Amino acid sequence: MKRINCCLLFVFCFASIFPIQTVFSAENKTKKTAETNNSGPKAPPQIYRLSKEAAAAEECLKCIVVYGDTRTNHGVHKKIEKLISGRKPETIFHTGDMVSDGANNKEWDMFEEIVSGLRKNSEFFPVHGNHEWLAPNYFKVFGIINWFTYYSIDRHKIHFTVIDSEVPFWKGTWQYQWLESDLKKASLSDKTKFIAVLLHRPLYSSGLHGAKESPVLAQELAPLFEKYGVDIVVAGHDHDYERLYKNGIFYITAGGGGAPLYDKASEVKGSQVFIKSHHYLTLSVLKNELFFETFNELNEPIDSFKVKEKNKITR
Ligand SMILES: [Fe+2]
Repeated sequence: MKRINCCLLFVFCFASIFPIQTVFSAENKTKKTAETNNSGPKAPPQIYRLSKEAAAAEECLKCIVVYGDTRTNHGVHKKIEKLISGRKPETIFHTGDMVSDGANNKEWDMFEEIVSGLRKNSEFFPVHGNHEWLAPNYFKVFGIINWFTYYSIDRHKIHFTVIDSEVPFWKGTWQYQWLESDLKKASLSDKTKFIAVLLHRPLYSSGLHGAKESPVLAQELAPLFEKYGVDIVVAGHDHDYERLYKNGIFYITAGGGGAPLYDKASEVKGSQVFIKSHHYLTLSVLKNELFFETFNELNEPIDSFKVKEKNKITR
């Protein structure tokens, strides 16, 4: 398994820094065309297909759910899954760390068993976390065939950009170039009212890991998010719930899907709410605003906030 992971690491890092088209440039023309057509970030295929009409509807109530960091506390994950399932969402995002050991088949079997109902009745989009880093099962479970762990989708005039904090993302990497072009396109599009970014590690956090582990995230990405008018960034990794507001952007940590909870470890400027609780987040799309509500494992509301549509000039 170690040898497989080493090979994957090489392919993964190489593909993250250089476009896959470049990797195959020495191949014959037919193969190059085929690879070019299949390459590039693409959202993972879905078991449940949301209709184009539903995805384009101007408003919807609690139709999108975000949760993450489920790992090995299966009892809590099952509870959270049941609560999410009861909401009948259209779309679910998991903020990463689905399992504790990405190389353990049994953990993936359990994860798949718990989320099978969610994936059957809702779209289910993954964010690549450090606990499934380069795990072949991650790609197998989500049907990802081109190694890209970042992609974007549009739902209800919200542009969702999912990026990968576990592979190179800074200036000069293929992911950074793709991210900038993706955000630029979304910021200029009349079809986009809001931009949301999801990734595993938080840019800012008062939790145990905080932002100390990877300050380069905020250094490299915050200016890009501010430049292109990102409205909200949702991460996991810290096992708590936090709402933070900085330079016109909400930064949410939603890592309470089952993993052991963390205490507040530091005071971070801009932090508005910090709750040590398992939870999931719902998103309602209203005419000119987004309404977020967070619920604990007893399905009690623990936080809510609105994100107003930004003036296009500020984008
Ligand atoms: Fe993590």
